[in-house]
Amino acid sequence: MKLAIFASGSGSNAEAIIQSIKVGELDAEAALIICDKPHAKVFERAERLGIPCVLFQPKTYSSKQKYEEEIISLLRREQIDFIVLAGYMRLIGSTMLGEYEGKIVNIHPSLLPAFPGLDAIGQAFDAKVKETGVTIHYVDEGMDTGPIVAQETVSIDYNETRETLTKKIQQVEHRLYPKTLQKIFSERKVGGETNE
Ligand code: GRF
Repeated sequence: MKLAIFASGSGSNAEAIIQSIKVGELDAEAALIICDKPHAKVFERAERLGIPCVLFQPKTYSSKQKYEEEIISLLRREQIDFIVLAGYMRLIGSTMLGEYEGKIVNIHPSLLPAFPGLDAIGQAFDAKVKETGVTIHYVDEGMDTGPIVAQETVSIDYNETRETLTKKIQQVEHRLYPKTLQKIFSERKVGGETNE
């Protein structure tokens, strides 16, 4: 399974996935990272990890369709099978969804459908709920709405701060994302859906 990881920010989930591949826990190839923000920290990580990170800036294209078509032509050249969103701060449009139907997953730092959208950790913290978590789901045209593949709960303790909660959630994300991808890919192999 040849992956493209899409990231807009720090890229810690991208790194966790790439490291899992390197140590043989995730049976896939991280071919490249796609980033939409020129100064994102993920570029430094990618360089350190030896994975190409390619910038596509939406504002330099006349439409979302054109932007996605440019990315797709690179993904086709690289024979990418599957797209992993890891902190990609943009809705996937119909062009990309059509090309990679059922082959795009996302990670979100809440127990969806609770707290979709921006700053899900802050939303849960402000709501004073006792638990939140992490969700991995297939991507559809909505904001954090596609079919759920995996979820893990994280408790919010009485003395929790946003920072401690963020750390706890990230630790879960970095373990759960590679593990869930491995599960998805091994099930697809059994089902004969891969074109490897
Ligand atoms: C993660 O919390 C992920 O759930 C959300 O964006 C954040 C990305 O973090 N979608 P990083 O860039 O992987 O460090």
